[in-house]
Amino acid sequence: MATTYRIAVLAGDGIGPEIMAVALDVLRAIAPRFDLEFEFVPALVGGAAIDAVGEPLPAATLETCRQSDAVLLAAIGGTQWDSLPRHLRPETGLLALRAGLGLFANLRPAKVFPQLIHASSLKPEVIAGVDLMVVRELTGGIYFGQPRGIFTTETGEQRGVNTMAYTATEIDRIGRVAFETARKRQGKLCSVDKANVLEVSQLWRDRLTALSKEYPDVELTHLYVDNAAMQLVRAPKQFDTIVTSNLFGDILSDIAAMLTGSIGMLPSASLGESGPGLFEPVHGSAPDIAGQDKANPLAMVLSAAMMLRYGLNQPAAAQAIEEAMTAVLDQGYRTGDLMSEGCTLVGCREMGNLLIKALSQ
Ligand code: IPM
Ligand code: MG
Repeated sequence: MATTYRIAVLAGDGIGPEIMAVALDVLRAIAPRFDLEFEFVPALVGGAAIDAVGEPLPAATLETCRQSDAVLLAAIGGTQWDSLPRHLRPETGLLALRAGLGLFANLRPAKVFPQLIHASSLKPEVIAGVDLMVVRELTGGIYFGQPRGIFTTETGEQRGVNTMAYTATEIDRIGRVAFETARKRQGKLCSVDKANVLEVSQLWRDRLTALSKEYPDVELTHLYVDNAAMQLVRAPKQFDTIVTSNLFGDILSDIAAMLTGSIGMLPSASLGESGPGLFEPVHGSAPDIAGQDKANPLAMVLSAAMMLRYGLNQPAAAQAIEEAMTAVLDQGYRTGDLMSEGCTLVGCREMGNLLIKALSQ
């Protein structure tokens, strides 16, 4: 009997539907080989949900996600929704989804594919062999801290406020995920903070240092975030696993993405204590190329592979997808964002067909 998984499918906005279609086709193609069955349950999120039902995260969507084994999300957002009040913006839907599912741990791997080494704006010798993991705290910090808002002061001036706050409990639980992750990798963990200025970072550093006693096999170091950003482009190979707060992780994971040549290559996994994980590309909805069959679907496909590995415990199926991708890159096929001399330019759909062909070989 095949193992059946119920997958909530949130295609979202912009290039979301195109890249999601490719990922679902790849999953359908791989299923019989590993005796899997997928039931894909589509649900609305982001701008698509705003247009259809007037809010970026309908209750029905959250419910669908909760009742699934995993959630696949493509991308949300677009300029047409940018002027809506904050509670109605697509991004608010994504944040509510992360919070609603308790997904406090966001894993963002950045691995350089040798085939794409010339697609990066950095020198090949700097990025060759880069293989790092950013563990980003996802449901706390300045993204969620109170108070927040735009207030009017006594003198009648407007004042914008956000609060960066972490409890020791929140730091410890992301810290444990990070130590466990580092343990399965090269055993090196770099904690990134701004402890030279921020109290919240001082607590972060103190807790990570205390936790490290429980993980003597993991080497813990600390960097200030400005230095970490610099080191990521200067000498990225020094990093194995990075753990950091929500905002710093947002920024550093985009930098890490560019080491690999294109943000179109980076998947992510968001996990909680229990319940379904959420798997989505690091990139956004790229409204400028939406609907033109130009998008790179590989980060979405790799997110589906992460879902198999981390969400459904099907590592062999995940590996088969990753190998198919390597094969297609070896054959020289590239979407526009990865294009370099001597390669063959393909669209989103065609890239998907090539992956499926490679899977059957
Ligand atoms: C990301 C994105 C989101 C974030 C946005 C779309 C809210 O940039 O997943 O990195 O800031 O977390
Ligand atoms: Mg981001």
